[in-house]
Formats: sequence, structure tokens, C-alpha cells
Amino acid sequence: MMVEIIDKIALNKYTSKMVLRAPDIAASAKAGQFVIIRIDEKGERIPLTIAGCDIDRGTIDIIYQKVGFTTYKLDYKNKGQSILNVVGPLGRPSELDGYKNVVIVVGGSGCAIAYPQAKALSENHAKISVICGFRSKDFIILEKELKSISDSFEMVTDDGSSGNKGLVTDVLQNKIKDGTADLVIAVGPLPMMKAVCEITKNFRVKTIVSMNTIMIDGTGMCGGCRLTVGGETKFACLDGPDFDGHKVDFDEAILRSKDSSNSKPFCGKDCNLFKGGLK
Ligand SMILES: Cc1cc2nc3c(=O)[nH]c(=O)nc-3n(C[C@H](O)[C@H](O)[C@H](O)COP(=O)(O)OP(=O)(O)OC[C@H]3O[C@@H](n4cnc5c(N)ncnc54)[C@H](O)[C@@H]3O)c2cc1C
Ligand code: FES
Repeated sequence: MMVEIIDKIALNKYTSKMVLRAPDIAASAKAGQFVIIRIDEKGERIPLTIAGCDIDRGTIDIIYQKVGFTTYKLDYKNKGQSILNVVGPLGRPSELDGYKNVVIVVGGSGCAIAYPQAKALSENHAKISVICGFRSKDFIILEKELKSISDSFEMVTDDGSSGNKGLVTDVLQNKIKDGTADLVIAVGPLPMMKAVCEITKNFRVKTIVSMNTIMIDGTGMCGGCRLTVGGETKFACLDGPDFDGHKVDFDEAILRSKDSSNSKPFCGKDCNLFKGGLK
């Protein structure tokens, strides 16, 4: 069944939010879950986090950064148009109950994934510290939203164009050294999550990571999202996407993600795939 785009809002030059009519998904979605969308019959399936939902309106929000063919193609769609299908909610909800003092470390479009988790923690009355890292000020999203639900908020950018110049890991150590944090959540590029886990392991703070592996069917059938956690094979779509970061084999995951990105060219608006003009 076609899924109507109720609204589309550009969050910055590279990232947009879409509100989709999906009442069944809105009624049952929990923080940490995602959908797999397909734009049309010829379209690839891509996973996107359920960034918000409105049960009364029967809508869900997705926030996507335009990084390649399908996300650019999605961005050609506008309010009032439809996409072919949206499957979900998929994945296990994040386990966030009982934590009192949580540090959320996010990089780039990882904010779209971390925001619903931060909201759920805030509803559970946890104290939340957010450390956000972006390439530059042009990539910032959800700053106001994350600030409004966090007790402390720090921004770093690679070029210093907003907040301090530096990496999220530069700030993290100071945040957890007093020993009061009972959970760290890390969402972003694999090398960033690996670096966060190396720090939190030293401080013995439990760390949840969101594994953004390649996903195709989202049902455990294709094996695309396979990863090793605590020496066991897991599927990010069924067993995750959240995992205990101290048990994830990041080196293997990084290697697998390189294999898959080598087989796909970066595909911006100048790419040949777009030259025929996407509708
Ligand atoms: C559980 C989960 C939730 C996600 N939530 C969000 C989100 O809320 N917002 C957001 O901007 N991005 C999210 N992503 C990443 C998003 O799925 C990819 O950016 C998207 O698939 C890129 O597709 P593309 O065709 O535009 O780019 P491509 O040119 O095909 O790929 C660009 C990069 O995107 C990744 N990617 C490509 N295809 C897939 C795929 N089928 N599954 C997973 N990753 C892929 C790869 O790292 C690849 O190198 C999520 C990924 C996962 C696994
Ligand atoms: S996406 Fe196919 S097994 Fe997980």
C-alpha cells in the first residue's frame, strides 16, 4: 500500500525530515526501532530510524541525511506524494529503563537515531548529558530539540565552525571521569563508536551502540546485517540495532562496511545515475 508524505521539512542542506502516514507503525513503535522503506518498484530498501510518532494523527517521522542514491531519490519526493511501502517497526526497542545518569554521544546523522532514545530517557526522568559532533555547522540537526531535553549539551565540530573544534571523544572523558554516569549511548560512524567504547571500557561504564550495518530485508533472511557480538553471530535487524558496545567486534564491522561501500559509488546530484532526471 502506498504511503503518503504528510509533510517534508529541510533541517539543513543535507538532511530532511518527512512525516509519513503509517498508523499501524505509529501505534506500536518504540524508541530504538526503525523502518525499511522502498520508494518505488525499482527502489532499494533502506533502513531509517523512527525519529518520532504521533499515534493520534497516525504518523511517523523519519529524518534522513542525503548520502547516496536512495536518500537523494527520497528527497525528490514532496508533501502530498507517496512512497511505495514502509515496513516496521523493526528491531528491538532500546532498553532504557532504570538508568539515572546517561551520557549520549552522537555523530552527524546519528542524532536522528539518538533523539528518540534521549526523549524516552527524559520521560523516565534520567539526567541526560549530550555530546554532539558534526563535520561543520552546515551539518547540524536537532540541536534545539536535544538541548531542550538534556541537562547538559556540548557541541564539537571538526572545523570549529560551531562549538569547540575537536572530537566527541575529547569531551567524553571529562563527562564520565567522576564515575556518576551509569550508561553511555553512542550513535554515529563505526570508528567513532569504537573510540567511545575504548574510553568507556577503561571507566567501566556500560555502553550501548546502535549498529548501522547494511540491511536489506530487515527480517533475518539475507544476512546483510551480520556482526559478531561477544564471539557470537548476531543480526542487527533482529537482535539489534542496539548492542553492548564492549562486546561488539568493531574491526570486523568496519571491514564489512568498507567492502559494501567500495561496491557502491558515492552518488550525489552530479552522479550519472541522476543525469536522466529523477522523478
Ligand atoms: C538501523 C538503521 C537505522 C538508520 N537510521 C538512519 C536515520 O534515521 N537517518 C539516516 O540518515 N540514516 C540512517 N541509517 C543509514 C541509512 O540507512 C543509509 O544512509 C542509507 O541506506 C543510504 O542509502 P543510499 O542509497 O542513499 O546511499 P548509498 O550510496 O547506497 O550508501 C551510502 C552509505 O550508506 C550506508 N548504506 C547503504 N545502503 C544501506 C542499507 N541498505 N542499509 C544500511 N546502510 C546502508 C552504507 O554505509 C553506505 O556506504 C540507518 C541505518 C540503519 C542500519
Ligand atoms: S537485514 Fe537481512 S538479515 Fe538483517
